[in-house]
Amino acid sequence: MPQAKPLRSSAAGALTGTARVPGDKSISHRSLMLGAVAVGETVVHGLLEGEDVLHTAAAMRALGARADRDDDGVWRIHGVGVGGLGEPAQVLDMGNSGTAARLLIGLVAAHPVTTFFTGDASLNKRPMARIIGPLERMGASFVSRAGGRLPLAVVGSAQPVPIEYRLPVASAQVKSAVLLAGLNTPGVTTVIEAEPTRDHTELMLRHFGADVRTERLEDGALAVSVTGQPELTGRTIHVPADPSSAAFPAVAALLRPGSELLLTDVGMNPRRTGLYDTLVEMGADIVFENRRDQAGEPVADLRVRGGALKGVVVPPDRAPSMIDEYPILAVAAAFAEGTTTMLGLKELRVKESDRLAMIADGLTRCGVRVEVGADDSLTVHGTGLAGRPRGGATVATAMDHRIAMSFLVFGMASAEPVQVDDGAFIDTSFPGFVTLMNRLGARISEA
Ligand code: S3P
Repeated sequence: MPQAKPLRSSAAGALTGTARVPGDKSISHRSLMLGAVAVGETVVHGLLEGEDVLHTAAAMRALGARADRDDDGVWRIHGVGVGGLGEPAQVLDMGNSGTAARLLIGLVAAHPVTTFFTGDASLNKRPMARIIGPLERMGASFVSRAGGRLPLAVVGSAQPVPIEYRLPVASAQVKSAVLLAGLNTPGVTTVIEAEPTRDHTELMLRHFGADVRTERLEDGALAVSVTGQPELTGRTIHVPADPSSAAFPAVAALLRPGSELLLTDVGMNPRRTGLYDTLVEMGADIVFENRRDQAGEPVADLRVRGGALKGVVVPPDRAPSMIDEYPILAVAAAFAEGTTTMLGLKELRVKESDRLAMIADGLTRCGVRVEVGADDSLTVHGTGLAGRPRGGATVATAMDHRIAMSFLVFGMASAEPVQVDDGAFIDTSFPGFVTLMNRLGARISEA
């Protein structure tokens, strides 16, 4: 576990400049995993070199693929072909990453190998029963800690069977775990989702040559099917900048009057952009310039100008498209004029931390009035930019990178500086966060 690294953020002036935040985390994980089961070389430009993704790279090597980084930061993956993964000699440590753990467990569940998975204290608390259930139906078996927690062992099936599975929770990780198991399963594996979650797995599987179909069902749900045992061919991938990471400088600029930032190359997959839709509804001045397609994923440059925001109601059906962005939205809401209510946040309780509790606790410590509803809603009473929330507190982060970054943004605009108890986990998703933010005008330092 990295050593705790307290950080302090003090009032910043206007933010100006141009920045490209690091590569998309979801797409980076998937490019390593699919590259590892493709035939030939996959070349990845702009891979996120955060700790979560580096754990995936190490795991793919342990499973028999090659994953090398050129001096210029380009990654080259030499895959073993679908069905070709070998049994790792050691326990796979997925660090802080739920995505890495869940997707990889799915991938190995349909290989005749036994794999042991563990993670850090945060990951080992997170629910894995949601993937164990469908993967057992496909023929894998598991030994896990109580409640389906890591560490766990998965005995992959030598003769996996395809299933049709309706997701009980809106989760791209669960959908992806089943689809990746379906990859080495003869026949057609189908996942049905009532609410559309991020579709990077589907898009990338197609990019590598798999037959992936989507069909709208009568009840409005979406059925996603993959035909098993395709020959995947190594591809070139350009990873867009992560919209979930761009959210931090974007909101910081909105909160500092006079700011003008250009955030380049930001992924604009419509299943990821709920935060930006919400900010625009709140009155944010964000212009999406130079919209284009990059290897199957839409991207744009975001021009963000500081200015007043107003409170809104965020409907529950928007949650899947902004599931990682509620901490930073809650910070924006604290500085908005009026009340913001966010509905349908149950899944926030099983992220890197209980994010609903950590947001409410941090905002309260910083002098913001908040209410958490019994229905897992969050209401934030904003002060407006002129009223300025107080800040002046140390916020607990519970090993959660996004809680840490959100409250460092809070401290850029509050009356008094904000300290976070541990910024070490920021490196899981946004290496170089402090340097990038300070270059744009933030004042974040070691506490
Ligand atoms: C992710 C899916 C989401 C998200 C996570 C990344 C993915 O998790 O919170 O950061 O890459 O598939 P859930 O599927 O558990 O909602």
